[in-house]
Amino acid sequence: MATPKLGWVIYNGHLGGKKFLDFAEWMQRAAKTQNINMKIIKNNALLGVVGTANGLLQESEDMPDFVVFSDKDIPLAQQLETLGIPLFNSSRSIALCDNKILMYQALAAADIAIPKTIIAPKIFPGTLPVQLDTFEPAIAELGFPMIVKEAFGSFGEQVYLIETKEQLHKKIKEIGTEPFVLQEYIHTSHGRDIRINVVGGQVVASMIRESDTDFRANVSRGGSMQPYTPSEKEAELAIAAAHTVGTNFAGVDLLFGPQGEPIVCEVNSNAHIRSIFDCTGVDVSDAIMSHIKEMLS
Ligand SMILES: Nc1ncnc2c1ncn2[C@@H]1O[C@H](COP(=O)(O)OP(=O)(O)O)[C@@H](O)[C@H]1O
Ligand SMILES: [Mg+2]
Repeated sequence: MATPKLGWVIYNGHLGGKKFLDFAEWMQRAAKTQNINMKIIKNNALLGVVGTANGLLQESEDMPDFVVFSDKDIPLAQQLETLGIPLFNSSRSIALCDNKILMYQALAAADIAIPKTIIAPKIFPGTLPVQLDTFEPAIAELGFPMIVKEAFGSFGEQVYLIETKEQLHKKIKEIGTEPFVLQEYIHTSHGRDIRINVVGGQVVASMIRESDTDFRANVSRGGSMQPYTPSEKEAELAIAAAHTVGTNFAGVDLLFGPQGEPIVCEVNSNAHIRSIFDCTGVDVSDAIMSHIKEMLS
């Protein structure tokens, strides 16, 4: 393909708050500096029609040369791919990162270090209460404290530190029919992790996040940020993790293992880029745009 001229950046039209539009606006600005026209489009402005030639219920828009998909509307992402439009990130990689169970399975299959992770069995709506004795073998395996993490979640909001069996049972009842994992608590990383932004197989920015008040280091939970230069091992692990789940660009979270060794906490296919800019001065959107141009030329 020749140099791309028109891109769409798609975000979720139902999410309130400026921070979701932020990424789209930064991508638009980065595109402009590289002579690419980038239109910001809400996912709910694009109704996919299954099995038709043009595939979308909208006529007025010119179809783009590529899409930056800043949403987790995976069926829409697949619909656009069906039309032959290159997506960054791909629907497959977004689907893998969106569901932390699938993400951990993919990482483990590629021999990437992750905390020991046990999958809670599926429960259909209407079949509660949860059979709590199901979890006895997981308690025996992990002990307390342990981490409980919902498959779908972000900003640390669906990640819990569980100290006792009573707390575990209470949390499992609260989670209800949502999928989740029980996970080894990496105590040497309490309130501390590394965020590495990987674009096109290279580290473009990195910070260490630390919290005095919470086991979670997420900035949105009060973690403070410092620029960080990852070790070779940390950089390699982040790059391998981003590659394994198929992301062109990602925010990879690493935990500090007992010997200081890096362990992958998660790969974000839809990482926000303002905090890393505030911390390091690196505007990741420029690297993403350059990478997309390179991929398409
Ligand atoms: N197994 C773990 N052991 C210790 N801390 C963890 C573990 N898993 C997550 N955390 C902490 O919780 C934070 C949020 O977890 P993460 O899996 O990245 O979910 P989210 O998608 O909500 O950011 C991490 O940044 C880390 O500080
Ligand atoms: Mg995270």
